[in-house]
Amino acid sequence: MEVSSTIAEFRRTREKLVGSVGFVPTMGYLHEGHLSLVRQARRENDRIVVSIFVNPAQFGPQEDFAQYPRDTKQDLNLLEKEGADVVFMPLVKDMYPTHFSTWVDVEGVAARLEGAVRPGHFRGVATVVAKLFNIVKPYRAYFGQKDAQQAVVIRRMVSDLNMDLKVLVAPTVRELNGLAMSSRNIYLSSTERQSATILWRSLCLAKQLWERGEQDAEHLRVEMTKLIQKERLAHIDYISIAEPETLEELAKIEGSALVSLAVRIGKTRLIDNILLEES
Ligand code: PAJ
Repeated sequence: MEVSSTIAEFRRTREKLVGSVGFVPTMGYLHEGHLSLVRQARRENDRIVVSIFVNPAQFGPQEDFAQYPRDTKQDLNLLEKEGADVVFMPLVKDMYPTHFSTWVDVEGVAARLEGAVRPGHFRGVATVVAKLFNIVKPYRAYFGQKDAQQAVVIRRMVSDLNMDLKVLVAPTVRELNGLAMSSRNIYLSSTERQSATILWRSLCLAKQLWERGEQDAEHLRVEMTKLIQKERLAHIDYISIAEPETLEELAKIEGSALVSLAVRIGKTRLIDNILLEES
């Protein structure tokens, strides 16, 4: 496994990779969710590249960029075991040199949900992913359904800017109790971790009601809200029931719908989602 920590060094390594290249962009502190993407990429490509870069551009001024968990040694061990060919770990000053001034702004889908609560977040995500795509030049790139809106934003960018690669989205990996794996779960105390299962429980409730024929989005939202409010430590940021591609809010669920939510458990903000789709 090769590790490159400058763009120039990575480019030299990239030139030597033959065949299809699968790419998994991450911010590190890897868990089973990330590793499931790495395994899928491993199965579907001749060579795989994983990037580890905590991207300052996607964190708001009040957010946790400085505290975001990092453990490079452990990440490299895990990636070695998974058979990654190259790990790209650029420095912030290499990715955002002085005078950096070009940004990718995806309108519409990026303005809703997380975009409404975290202004500039998706501009940071789209910009760094576009840069990584230009550097890594992958044939396939892998993202998690856990960050459903991120995946929609990336697909939109790739399509709008005619980027020549395939975007694949893999299912959310969960703890046994349903909690979606996330690097930020490390912030939760053991009591909070138990409370945090309310996100998945409320999503399952929405799915159950929908499977029994409920089509009224407001009714699902009300029932989810009631359930979440029973959890003392939980505070709802938003609950959304939206069309999965445009992320426009739905009044009535006629085809498929993406139910997503953001909930604060103590000081930690968590997101999760479930797709309602006719099988
Ligand atoms: P990060 O949060 O490290 O996540 C990297 C990838 O892993 C994302 O595509 C994310 O959706 C996926 N992922 C995270 N938790 C998952 C889970 N429980 N199950 C399945 N997939 C999961 O997302 C980012 O980094 C950044 O925004 C990035 C795309 C790297 C741009 O900076």
